[in-house]
Amino acid sequence: MKNLLITGGAGFIGSHLCRVLQGLNLNITVLDNLSPQIHGHSATEPKWLKEYGINFIKGSVTSRDELENALKGTDAIVHLAAETGTGQSMYEIEKYNNVNSQATALMLDIIANKKHHNVKRILLASSRSVYGEGAYSCNNCDDVQRITPAPRTPQQLEANAWTASCPSCGSILESQPTKETDLIRPASIYASTKYAQEDLIAIACESLGIGYGILRLQNVYGEGQSLNNPYTGILSIFSTRIRRGLELPIFEDGLETRDFVHVEDVVHSFKAALLKEQSPNSIVNVGTGELTTVIDIATKLSLAFGKEPKIKVTGQYRLGDIRHNRADINKLKEVLDYTPSISLENGLSRFVNWVLEQPLPEDQLEKANKELKDRNLMG
Ligand SMILES: NC(=O)c1ccc[n+]([C@@H]2O[C@H](COP(=O)([O-])OP(=O)(O)OC[C@H]3O[C@@H](n4cnc5c(N)ncnc54)[C@H](O)[C@@H]3O)[C@@H](O)[C@H]2O)c1
Repeated sequence: MKNLLITGGAGFIGSHLCRVLQGLNLNITVLDNLSPQIHGHSATEPKWLKEYGINFIKGSVTSRDELENALKGTDAIVHLAAETGTGQSMYEIEKYNNVNSQATALMLDIIANKKHHNVKRILLASSRSVYGEGAYSCNNCDDVQRITPAPRTPQQLEANAWTASCPSCGSILESQPTKETDLIRPASIYASTKYAQEDLIAIACESLGIGYGILRLQNVYGEGQSLNNPYTGILSIFSTRIRRGLELPIFEDGLETRDFVHVEDVVHSFKAALLKEQSPNSIVNVGTGELTTVIDIATKLSLAFGKEPKIKVTGQYRLGDIRHNRADINKLKEVLDYTPSISLENGLSRFVNWVLEQPLPEDQLEKANKELKDRNLMG
């Protein structure tokens, strides 16, 4: 592999990936439209691209011409470009479908119709969101081993029935590490577009004889995550509110959990999938396997800033959100031979040090929440 194309490479994960691929003698091209929601309205080509010797094409994955141009001579692709806000996806449905699902189809269409394409491997940044609620077990029933509940309905959320209950005995279920083989039950438009990307890539690559790898990322956090985007990145959103002395509003009862994985571990997983001699041709969870409640992460983050936590559990909810999420990472260790190494404490400290060097952004959380409320997508 010599010529690598990274779509969305100017973003959070892409910028770290470009850094860790330095020194590997790769000719890297980044195709990125510098989306204003992520990069601000007057963004220009980030300086580090030139410093790393990376070719930059400002363009969109939704444009056939721009994609064709970027794909010239490419022999491997890391496909990161996407719209990434779960809540926002519930009303910007066409945009999410265009940028995520349709653009992936366009990329594969170009490759499939190019007689002498060189593409040998495609890696996709997919998401834990494809599982929806993920795996649970019932402590009360002997016979039921594993349950993958349906997405929570608006009625369940309205009744504060946050966690799914056992279909047999009605007890509250207990979250389990979700495996790649567990049922796919997307709860949001974002998740459905990520799953569409997965299917398109797996099916097209199998038929075209191209190697592939689908990395299902958990909640990625770390230095460089956009501080401008109020639609995703809970730690970035909270960091601005902490710096401004504002309360941290927490949905549901605050005991919902996430598997927070530092971006350094994520990009090393991609590096492993890229450099592996045999293409993984499989789906791999990338997380830590550790559960953290949202109250806990808000508290730890506040303390890492040296501030008393100002937490307000609101009992509000967003349609499309999931309750718990934790990855089974055995396949990450077996297939990619990678074990995450950044502890939450270390990761938070790195993140906070970086945030404190950045200009203080406007807090836009209330604006983002209002957009949901106006459409009855938040209760
Ligand atoms: N960050 C997470 O927690 C997380 C979790 C699961 C999956 N992912 C996936 O990882 C990938 C990268 O996410 P990220 O956190 O780095 O997001 P990001 O928003 O920081 O980066 C995405 C990049 O894609 C670019 N982009 C957006 N639309 C584009 C278009 N039409 N054409 C070209 N470029 C475009 C943006 O300008 C941005 O630079 C996404 O596919 C996302 O779905 C991220």
